[in-house]
Amino acid sequence: MNVINRKWSENELAVELERILSLHPTGRDFQLDEVLEYHLQVPNRRRVPEIHKSAAKAGRTLLQPRSGMATVEEMIDTLSHLEESGADVLTWTADTYCRRNLFEKAAAAVEESRRLGRSVLNGFPSVVHGVAGCRRLFEALDAPCEGRGATGSPQAYNTFMLAGGVTSFNGASLFCALSVESHMAVGEVIGNFQYIDRLLGWFEERGATVSREAGGFPSGTITPPCASIVASIIECLLAAEQGVKNLCIAYPLNSSLTQDIAAVRIQQRLCADYLEQAGHGDVHLTQAAHQWLGPYSDSLDQTFARICVDTVTCAFARVTKILVKSPEEGRGAPTKESNASGIIATRKVLDLMQGQVFPETEALADEMHIIEQQCRAKMDRVLELGDGDIARGTVIAFERGVLDFPFSVNQHNAGKAMIARDVEGAVRFIDTGNLPFSDEIQEYDRARLAERKRREKKDDMELMIDDLRAVVR
Ligand code: 5AD
Repeated sequence: MNVINRKWSENELAVELERILSLHPTGRDFQLDEVLEYHLQVPNRRRVPEIHKSAAKAGRTLLQPRSGMATVEEMIDTLSHLEESGADVLTWTADTYCRRNLFEKAAAAVEESRRLGRSVLNGFPSVVHGVAGCRRLFEALDAPCEGRGATGSPQAYNTFMLAGGVTSFNGASLFCALSVESHMAVGEVIGNFQYIDRLLGWFEERGATVSREAGGFPSGTITPPCASIVASIIECLLAAEQGVKNLCIAYPLNSSLTQDIAAVRIQQRLCADYLEQAGHGDVHLTQAAHQWLGPYSDSLDQTFARICVDTVTCAFARVTKILVKSPEEGRGAPTKESNASGIIATRKVLDLMQGQVFPETEALADEMHIIEQQCRAKMDRVLELGDGDIARGTVIAFERGVLDFPFSVNQHNAGKAMIARDVEGAVRFIDTGNLPFSDEIQEYDRARLAERKRREKKDDMELMIDDLRAVVR
């Protein structure tokens, strides 16, 4: 598929919407104009982009847990509990069947869940519950809601969640292509996300404010900051082209204080810069961060510790929203009580950190400088490869290993770039593969890794394997 970064026409949007609605019988109840009417009466306090804006203005940090279960009743019970525990934004996490467009299986699992009295799904199957079911859920709650899920084909479940009153979606076509799709071509996933972005753009143009997360690249383990940041810049450019006006850029933390703070700052700076350069300076950006997205210990205490450390980073980095984990993260999808514990602990750390400012050290400045250089080198090469077209450039860059995300499951990823932590836990390149980095950039990482190799008396490969095996650093 030859994907290009061009705004879809209304007709292209209508054709794709019709195709999606034909995938399951509940599609019959979806009328686009009626959904717009519904959205226009959702109050601002329940619109994700509006509360992002007001929180940023007030310097307040919003907290968002995730949750997804089979039935509307369980969702109401869990999400109400999280609301009462201090969640500012609620998540409707999609189940795996809906992420794979296996709606019959999702419907059977809903029946099974009702029969057993417990959810046998790992998320909320919005397509099965249809417009009415999604609205019943939305109307039973008080906080704004965001739809989430990781898949290369999120069109259907997002469409139904939108119909229910959800005003924001996570996204990151590159994250989805590279982290969860082993065979799908990057261009195909970008095309699938263009539909979501065009649909959101269509609502925005008609006065219904909506937003999209332009996420980084969590690989399920350590991630080089430049990979996350470049992925989010590309997401911003793709979404803005389709008419999205509110983007939440989200950084996946590596639990390495100085490097994480530097990365959040550079992510903000470069997303704004590249949007401006592309003529999208009117897009509103909000900054979020994800508490560690890699593996957790099954010890609740150790998981709590990690959540709290990442929250300290978020406080210093002054993010507007934190995607919060629960102490049960290492054990599977959390109970509502455990999810609530994560929120309460995170809020307490933020309260304790109130007013504290991270010192402007030389190490922080160096880190910002190197990350910015790495990101600009990649972005400039991607734009050059695409002759100014970010979608085309991204596809070609993957083919050539100019974009290469360590530990990707996708067979189209080059997989030549390799990484490990240095003595401070910052993520460095062992091997930069075909990444377009100057000698100076490569040397910076090599010098820092050399120090760890010397101290631990290990070679590059041993460091990398140690880091991959480390559940809790
Ligand atoms: N309920 C609660 N949390 C979930 N997550 C995924 N599915 C669910 C669910 N059904 C969370 C987990 C996972 C992250 C990506 O989303 O914390 O690590």
